[in-house]
Amino acid sequence: MAGCCAALAAFLFEYDTPRIVLIRSRKVGLMNRAVQLLILAYVIGLYTHFAEVEMEPPPKWVFVWEKGYQETDSVVSSVTTKAKGVTVTNTSTLGFRVWDVADYVIPAQEENSLFVMTNMIITMNQTQGFCPELPDKTTVCKSDANCVAGSSGTHSNGIATGRCVLFNGTVKTCEVAAWCPVEDDTHVPEPAFLKAAENFTLLVKNNIWYPKFNFSKRNILPNITTAYLKSCIYDAVTDPFCPIFRLGKIVESAGHSFQDMAIEGGIMGIQINWDCNLDRSSSLCLPRYSFRRLDTRDVDHNVSPGYNFRFAKYFSDLTGAERRTLIKAYGIRFDIIVFGKAGKFDIIPTMINIGSGLALLGVATVLCDVIVLYCMKKRFYYREKKYKYVEDYEQGLGGEMDQ
Ligand SMILES: *[C@@H]1O[C@H](CO)[C@@H](O)[C@H](O)[C@H]1NC(C)=O
Repeated sequence: MAGCCAALAAFLFEYDTPRIVLIRSRKVGLMNRAVQLLILAYVIGLYTHFAEVEMEPPPKWVFVWEKGYQETDSVVSSVTTKAKGVTVTNTSTLGFRVWDVADYVIPAQEENSLFVMTNMIITMNQTQGFCPELPDKTTVCKSDANCVAGSSGTHSNGIATGRCVLFNGTVKTCEVAAWCPVEDDTHVPEPAFLKAAENFTLLVKNNIWYPKFNFSKRNILPNITTAYLKSCIYDAVTDPFCPIFRLGKIVESAGHSFQDMAIEGGIMGIQINWDCNLDRSSSLCLPRYSFRRLDTRDVDHNVSPGYNFRFAKYFSDLTGAERRTLIKAYGIRFDIIVFGKAGKFDIIPTMINIGSGLALLGVATVLCDVIVLYCMKKRFYYREKKYKYVEDYEQGLGGEMDQ
């Protein structure tokens, strides 16, 4: 009972306080201040508004650490696209032919992307029937014995019938049941069939929204007039906010040749960056466009390059038999990639970051303590002053009452 009272009395009537050891040393004093100064500079660097939106390119380390006082949010966006342009071709198989948007944009609409056909292999008037395969290592034959009925390889156009027939005047190949005549895609047209696609244009409409700040905007800026929109073409220097892009320029901005890319096809990324500082006027929140080829491959490893796919258009001939036109389409897919982050002052991240910044100042004390107590020549002297050694109570009882 008495022990309990004593403990209570100690709790109520005693006060303990840490003792501060003041070390009068120029070396240690300066070191402490220098470390504090470094930490302070770092913390201020963390929260100060170093990089403005206009600064380009901003120094990387500032970008990584800046704006600790802001709440941030990621962009939500929607994109629609529209291509424009017509061209004519005049070939022996197709004759004089005009190509408009409905012919070369496949499919008519896609999410965040658009495919423009630039090259193709067209096989007209196919019907279901029997015809010789294209000649290659596995299909060339001397007699029926070389052809296995019912077989079909990965690259076959049909199912072998087991007969060996003339492909042309000299070569014999295995006959297949297939859509006849079979497609011959050994040679990709060069230059690209629709090489004029270089001059086609693409209008990109992009609406963005930062839900946390209820801020929305679109890439057709308020100061863009109908007349300007009708005539402008994006240019990084003269028209950086025009949302109409010339296809040739998109590819060239990414450092590639449009006519080369048009032959075998490929994928281009149109990046729209909406990094905004919403502490400043909303008119300064602007889209920045950049272009990048997404299917780049090693120059010396040119296996299976480009981008292509097949589709067919079906119709009935005069006798009612089903026929089709097979098109192997090569082209460029434009993927529109929207990204960005908005920041706005908010008291909560500010407090959190100031708190963690102040806590960082404690590092100076720890560092100086380590140096004073473990590294300096007079460390034993300082250690003796810093620590007050107290014996275990039982042993030291009556011995150490006071200093
Ligand atoms: C694209 O347009 C320019 C200027 O109008 C013209 O000189 C060029 O030949 C065109 N390109 C193609 C591939 O038609």
